[in-house]
Amino acid sequence: MATARMAVRAANLGLEEAVADAEARYVAARPKSRAIFEQNLEAMPGGNTRTVLFFRPFPMVIARGHGARLVDVDGHEYVDWLGEYSAGLYGHSHPVILAAIREALEDGIALGGPNRFEGPLAAELCRRFPSLELVRFCNSGTEANLFAIAAARAFTGRPAVMVFEHGYHGGVFYFIPGADRINAPFPWVLAPYNDLDGTLALLEAHAHELAAVLVEPMQGSAGALPAEPGFLRALREACSRYGICLIFDEVMTSRTSAGGLQARLGITPDLTSLGKYLGGGLTLSAFGGKAAIMAQFDPRRPQAIPHAGTFNNNVLAMAAGLAGLRKLATAEALEAHFRRGEQLKEKINALAARHGLPFQCTGCGSILGLHCQGGTLRSGRDLAAQDPLRRELLQRLLHYDLLERGHYLARRGYLTLSLPLTEADERSFLSAIDEFLSVRRNLLLA
Ligand SMILES: Cc1ncc(COP(=O)(O)O)c(C=O)c1O
Repeated sequence: MATARMAVRAANLGLEEAVADAEARYVAARPKSRAIFEQNLEAMPGGNTRTVLFFRPFPMVIARGHGARLVDVDGHEYVDWLGEYSAGLYGHSHPVILAAIREALEDGIALGGPNRFEGPLAAELCRRFPSLELVRFCNSGTEANLFAIAAARAFTGRPAVMVFEHGYHGGVFYFIPGADRINAPFPWVLAPYNDLDGTLALLEAHAHELAAVLVEPMQGSAGALPAEPGFLRALREACSRYGICLIFDEVMTSRTSAGGLQARLGITPDLTSLGKYLGGGLTLSAFGGKAAIMAQFDPRRPQAIPHAGTFNNNVLAMAAGLAGLRKLATAEALEAHFRRGEQLKEKINALAARHGLPFQCTGCGSILGLHCQGGTLRSGRDLAAQDPLRRELLQRLLHYDLLERGHYLARRGYLTLSLPLTEADERSFLSAIDEFLSVRRNLLLA
């Protein structure tokens, strides 16, 4: 055991040097980003207002984006594989989205009354998603989940919510170990993801107090780890048996088909939350589901649940979102995009196999995760089996190496494909990964 620990430490030493070297090049090439970061430190904690966009020593500042390209303030151009954590499905400045925003802008932006976009957008969503009989809008995925939970609690009269280890449902719904200090204070029941027996035992023990089971049909933040269909099906059956609302958080996965992952898997939850690309890149989210549950919000009803939110029907996001769904994210386009993501995943995994290295791509359709780790990855527990320092160093190295070759993705290896990415972008990305695997071979094997 002690020998194994020493070996890990020795291997990390070489890794640390490689990371320090790559980091020095990153810093030297980005003096303007560094200056802005240092200036921002004066008024924002860590110079940052969205933690996921921060990485050490400082993230480069993006000056502009077009199509699937980003340019930073130091003039580096990147192929954008992050796709704004899946909100950027349409790429940057898509003419269809821009035209819809410009047209809506002409008529005013904060009208303080129902507008002409909300009904058609709601109808389009209900037409697409099997679980949506009625839907309401809000501003972020976090808020959509908050209201879905509130709706389930009011409907069932029970307090508790089952969530899953390493799950992420928004800034105050974060279930990785140690990150839960600021979570909303609901009575949570934390279950092991993709562990059917463990989950069902907990579910049965807590059934009398559970209002909802809230699950990502693929855990995105945890590393693009899909739920097994049998696991979700068993959740569906158990929830029906005990009168618990099953909520699918499809904030990210809704792009995997016109009807989301629920349509692809043929499993219909009671409630669904949506967000990210829904507003065409502007702020918009939605929650909805069974008419009986959602009708609680009907203001004509006695004892209706109020659902407030100044910007719930914000005009620009709704106009952009509706144009995006109707003209760009058609069923055919989303199907082709799903296949494209699956093919990219297969090509990356074939590369890793050819190199014989512990490296893999996980995910589903256009939402993918790169991991410098071998073996089967079914849950955050599997990822946590790797030495955390080694994992962090390898992910940092991958990040620097890909940035240096002009490819932008999240430091943790997360990527989402946008529609304007070209085949040439994919070839260039695959060749950058191929080079990473060749150059860093010894460090990956150590
Ligand atoms: C599955 C999932 N749910 C909810 C959220 C929260 O969405 P937002 O950042 O819009 O609050 C996210 C954001 O990444 C997410 O991935």
